[in-house]
Amino acid sequence: MATNRTFTMIKPDAVADGNMGAILKMIEDAGFKIISMKYTRLTAELAGQFYAVHKERPFYGELVDYMSSGPIVAAILEKDNAVADFRTLIGATNPAEAAEGTIRKLFAKSIGENAVHGSDSDENAEIEGNFYFSQYERF
Ligand code: RTP
Ligand code: MG
Repeated sequence: MATNRTFTMIKPDAVADGNMGAILKMIEDAGFKIISMKYTRLTAELAGQFYAVHKERPFYGELVDYMSSGPIVAAILEKDNAVADFRTLIGATNPAEAAEGTIRKLFAKSIGENAVHGSDSDENAEIEGNFYFSQYERF
């Protein structure tokens, strides 16, 4: 059980803006160990699968277009209390509501283009990590 793991993506806007290195540094400085990492790009079909939980939401089409618009970084992270601590580090979905010093406060453009993803539960962290990484890539 990956109770001390979470999953993240550095989203296309943050990669395109050259913020990948700064965001990875914040993640490491906050005490997260990078277990697995991949620089890749989602097709619209894969982005739709990843965010299938939101398929009835009005922003789903926009979300799929955005998440397949350019390369991303996908990573599995390890730390005590990883899921909750990572959500604290990234801040609120809407950067206007994100706390000072959080990744989204610093780098997100809008509620849609918000720089990073963080899993919302241990169960989803495991599902999302498995979406990107084979068993041989998860140490
Ligand atoms: P994420 O899953 O990416 O970590 O974000 P989250 O938990 O903070 O937010 P969630 O409700 O799961 O929404 C997933 C992503 O959909 C986009 N979104 N757009 N235009 C809108 O109103 C809107 N609301 C959400 C964002 O990219 C959000 O991160
Ligand atoms: Mg979410």
